[in-house]
Amino acid sequence: MSDTSLIPELTTARLVLRPLRLDDADAIQRLFAQWEVVRFLANKVPWPYPADGARWYVEQVALPAMLRGQQWHWSIRTQSEPDRLIGMVSLMDDDPGNNRGFWLDPACHGRGYMTEACAAATGYWFAVLGKPLLRAPKAVANTASSRISARSGMRLVRVEERDYVSGRLPSEIWEITREEWLARQAAKDSG
Ligand SMILES: CC(C)(COP(=O)(O)OP(=O)(O)OC[C@H]1O[C@@H](n2cnc3c(N)ncnc32)[C@H](O)[C@@H]1OP(=O)(O)O)[C@@H](O)C(=O)NCCC(=O)NCCS
Repeated sequence: MSDTSLIPELTTARLVLRPLRLDDADAIQRLFAQWEVVRFLANKVPWPYPADGARWYVEQVALPAMLRGQQWHWSIRTQSEPDRLIGMVSLMDDDPGNNRGFWLDPACHGRGYMTEACAAATGYWFAVLGKPLLRAPKAVANTASSRISARSGMRLVRVEERDYVSGRLPSEIWEITREEWLARQAAKDSG
């Protein structure tokens, strides 16, 4: 992939996932720099979050990785308010232990939005990109994130220690294979 405009917008029942753009940085900066959002993210996220953290990340990390065809990032919006960014969902193919990440504006938690966004991104990973395996680590304490993995048919494969913004924590490694994902899709289609 040499042009991020080739990454499609994805739509779900209630959401629009728009490929990340540089002009998303200001909204990301406002929402992302909150303890509730970052505490269970990997400790490569700087904290306290710098004033130019989002612009630097979008410009220097995310967009170049999208251009290299190694990462796919979408901003999340509701269909009812498409101009308001409420979070991000990302796929990564440059770290075999971590293929998917996401965060949401705390004002929008608990409505099933990330379950919906994740299903769309995971479908893109397997059905469009044709990847064989999706793996995601998460802090054991991050119950909402674990529920998303469990409900989407992922398996807990091991527990290990990992470094998060809030320190070294017990961490779960979840995964699902392409075959498992396809079988779930077939069961949904026939049910
Ligand atoms: C993880 C996160 C994206 C979840 O988003 P969300 O839209 O609130 O998630 P959903 O509404 O789809 O809920 C997912 C599940 O978690 C449960 N849940 C939601 N918030 C919860 C909470 N605070 N505590 C426990 N469970 C919770 C929901 O009931 C749901 O479970 P169910 O499917 O069994 O009903 C959000 O909490 C977030 O942005 N956290 C900060 C960033 C982060 O930790 N990202 C993940 C890194 S691995």
